[in-house]
Amino acid sequence: MNIRTRRIRGGGILRRMTRETRLSCDSLVYPLFVREGKGVIEELSSLPGQTRYSPDTLAKGIEAAVNSGVNSFLLFGLPRVKDEKGSGGYDENGVVQQALRNIRTAFGKDVYLITDVCLCEYTSHGHCGLIVNEKIDNDATLPLLSRIALSHIHCGSDMAAPSGMMDGTVKSMRAALDAEGYSDIPIMSYAAKYASVFYGPFREAADCAPQFGDRKTYQMDYHNGREAIKRIKIDIEEGADIVIVKPALAYLDIISNASQIFNVPVAAYSVSGEYAMIKAAASSGYIDEYGAMCESAVSIFRAGADILITYFAKELSATIKKGDIG
Ligand code: PBG
Repeated sequence: MNIRTRRIRGGGILRRMTRETRLSCDSLVYPLFVREGKGVIEELSSLPGQTRYSPDTLAKGIEAAVNSGVNSFLLFGLPRVKDEKGSGGYDENGVVQQALRNIRTAFGKDVYLITDVCLCEYTSHGHCGLIVNEKIDNDATLPLLSRIALSHIHCGSDMAAPSGMMDGTVKSMRAALDAEGYSDIPIMSYAAKYASVFYGPFREAADCAPQFGDRKTYQMDYHNGREAIKRIKIDIEEGADIVIVKPALAYLDIISNASQIFNVPVAAYSVSGEYAMIKAAASSGYIDEYGAMCESAVSIFRAGADILITYFAKELSATIKKGDIG
């Protein structure tokens, strides 16, 4: 139907009927930060409008999101004590573990809980892998990641999302989950994760900036697109059920290619810097926040994403329900 070149009667109803891209609240995942403590509800200065909770208050954040139509969450943990091995990550009484138990009790199976599985939030050096002789030891990191994932699952997590970009993570994690009888727990892998400045605000929110060096030895160089396809292929072969492309807006080509080449769901992670940019530009009066949020989200789905992980999940969900997009 060529609505543009010929004037066709029908207005808004027809325009919505013929939209190519459809959005649903069910495709949105909302990231939430949990830190040690009691009664904590703190606004994040680097991510205006986002909040850090303690395990006992997280239910408030979840409830607000559920009321706007979001049912899936990605949890990040900030322990009080960090060490070389990131042992807070697999502590059965760690922040994420406590939070999972509380949310399960409060919401049962009405919410879907995904947990970020990485060392960087739990290590004193802030890297995503174990450090041996001042270098990341990829293989020594793998059992630790499986241990973190299992401890989350013991506390009620529905899905593991390994984000550290260590080679072989999906294979070893799949085997570890299967060995404990969790073959029904899916793995959503951060298969194509670029070394990006757009993670800046997150590193402040999760207090996980590397203390030395950078993440360029394990995160990808943004000059390379085919490398993403190679990494996604490997992760799928190793057993990934869903693959993530991250960040989203500067990587729409990767999302588009991945969704055409592979037949597993592709999740796009619209990261902290993408959110913060819109917020900052809007607060300076340079851009309309609502419009920028809608246009960006639709573009990510138009590129081919099946799932969108976004700090705008609540607002987008309300917008979809209103019919402005979707
Ligand atoms: C940890 C991790 C990061 C993000 C998600 N998981 C940060 C990083 O790699 O530095 C970034 C999320 C965001 O910016 O919203 N491995």
